[in-house]
Amino acid sequence: MNLETYIRQMPKAELHVHLEGTLEPEHIFALAARNNIELPYKTPGEVVQAYDFHDLPSFLTIYYAAMGVLQTEQDFYELAYHYFQRAHADNIVYVEPFFDPQGHTSRGVPFKVIITGIHRAQVDAKANLGIESNLIMCFLRDLSAESAMEHLELSRPFRDWIIGVGLDSDEKDNPPVKFARVFEQARKIGYKLTMHCDVNQLDIVDHLWQCLNEIKVDRIDHGINSLEDERLCEEIARRGLGLTVCPVSNRFVVQSLTSAEIKLMLAKGMKATINSDDPGYFRAYLTDNFLALIDEAEFTLEEIITLNTNAFEVSWLDDKSKTAHIERARDFKPVAPRAV
Ligand code: ADE
Ligand code: ZN
Repeated sequence: MNLETYIRQMPKAELHVHLEGTLEPEHIFALAARNNIELPYKTPGEVVQAYDFHDLPSFLTIYYAAMGVLQTEQDFYELAYHYFQRAHADNIVYVEPFFDPQGHTSRGVPFKVIITGIHRAQVDAKANLGIESNLIMCFLRDLSAESAMEHLELSRPFRDWIIGVGLDSDEKDNPPVKFARVFEQARKIGYKLTMHCDVNQLDIVDHLWQCLNEIKVDRIDHGINSLEDERLCEEIARRGLGLTVCPVSNRFVVQSLTSAEIKLMLAKGMKATINSDDPGYFRAYLTDNFLALIDEAEFTLEEIITLNTNAFEVSWLDDKSKTAHIERARDFKPVAPRAV
């Protein structure tokens, strides 16, 4: 059986995708026109030409500038619904997407506008596409802990629409412990906890240990550098903590899809998963990430199945739903693609 066919058709889960990172150049243009915003580019093609990412800050500068086109509830609805449609084409059946409220409230967009638009898209994606989703609110780690706490409070009326909180943006000099009180409070509210430990960041092994010992996260976003510390690997495996690895995103920083590292994580019993991160910018959705991996290195069918079922296992679904999804993914048999 052809591994590519299997990957394309297998029912998938995605646990690390920034909704604002799914903005496609054409959509940036359409929203800018609708909201009377002037862009420094003449065509969507020119936008892609400007995507010269080589590290986290060079990506974030463009990412925050472009999200300025998102202004109304309908804009947020369309952003999320477009992603769900694209996810459906990849046979994604479950997703826990991130959103960055501070990237919008800082521009005067009310929290309620952002979350209501996204939530409406989630309801429609369930009804029309059969995609189930649970939303994760991320705090921007280069802003203050006070700002994060304010947004935690803003989220309270929408508690039932949010499953957990995360931490993203520029990691340099912004360690997990800076947000220890915020995450402690989030836990009390009942939110699940995750944090970015981005690839090759300064003090990254310290950040990973802080996630485990100080914050007591339920999951880790990226986490590739845990392989530098054997004890850290053992502890991550012992706790069954999921790692949401993003191969194409990593390639912009380390010039590799980290396929060797992913295989090593699996061999050590660590629950690695495959994700797209910011697919509108990195030009690769979830299936593309899997296909790029098998192009770079030899992966067995069993390894692909493990990466895929790990995502359901370390998701924040209830146990009954997890079991049903894992059984469905394990029992899945691809059909032969039609000849053209
Ligand atoms: N925000 C959006 N994408 C991000 C990434 N890849 N790393 C950190 N923060 C982000
Ligand atoms: Zn990310």
